[in-house]
Amino acid sequence: MTAPTLEGSALEGEPLSVHLRTATRTQHEEAEGTSFIGSLMAGDLDVAAYADLAAQHHAIYSALEAAEPFLRADRHGARLVFGELPRVRALEADLTTLVGPSWRDEVRTLPATERYAARLRDVAGTWVGGYAAHAYTRYLGDLSGGLAVKAILQRTYRVPDEAVNFYTFPGIAKPKLFKDEYRRRLDALPLDTDERERVADEARTAFRLNTDLFRELAEVHLPTPQDP
Ligand code: HEM
Repeated sequence: MTAPTLEGSALEGEPLSVHLRTATRTQHEEAEGTSFIGSLMAGDLDVAAYADLAAQHHAIYSALEAAEPFLRADRHGARLVFGELPRVRALEADLTTLVGPSWRDEVRTLPATERYAARLRDVAGTWVGGYAAHAYTRYLGDLSGGLAVKAILQRTYRVPDEAVNFYTFPGIAKPKLFKDEYRRRLDALPLDTDERERVADEARTAFRLNTDLFRELAEVHLPTPQDP
């Protein structure tokens, strides 16, 4: 018989999507509670700080989305490829508006971004479960809290439509229905309890990499960052 589960560990038979949500709850709160995100949502930053975040996202999504050929070649991985999701082109359009046509020469990636991209190169293009953990963390977040970020960027920072493509998914009319389908695809991955736990560990790592990035961005863009 399986040992009784500890809090946050994979329950026998529990769908992966349910496990990921509970297993990352604390890390989600931590990311959401960083001073960079708090200040962004309170309207206390400037557009240059958001442009910096978009530049970091460009490096991160380039690494994540480079896994596509690997996924397509795998019967189960292929079920996680959605034409509606890739964000690299959208970020390139946003950066052209936010920074200018020569944005590639003007932006720089932070050390936390380099670490995040390196982790993605290690796991997302070699392990379907690892890709699932990172893609879940990014895309379901973009389709959830990301929509609140978009509203703040437009209303408070007056960022024009041409620069919020990252948070605009023309192929997704109803994010909730899309997220339900995404969760069904995650749940259909043939994972045993041990591998589900490895995927949850990787998702916690993904959240931590985001939190580390927000802390570095706070050091650059906030006079006195309040993060621990
Ligand atoms: C501005 C900061 C944020 C806000 C206000 C926010 C808000 C939310 C909300 C309200 C949901 C629930 C949506 C639903 O049940 O359909 C959600 C889900 C989610 N968020 Fe965030 N979030 C923020 C930052 C982040 C960050 C930084 C990440 C990771 C990079 C993230 C990843 C996720 C994920 C993966 C989910 C899906 C959870 C699940 O249903 O399994 N969020 N967020």
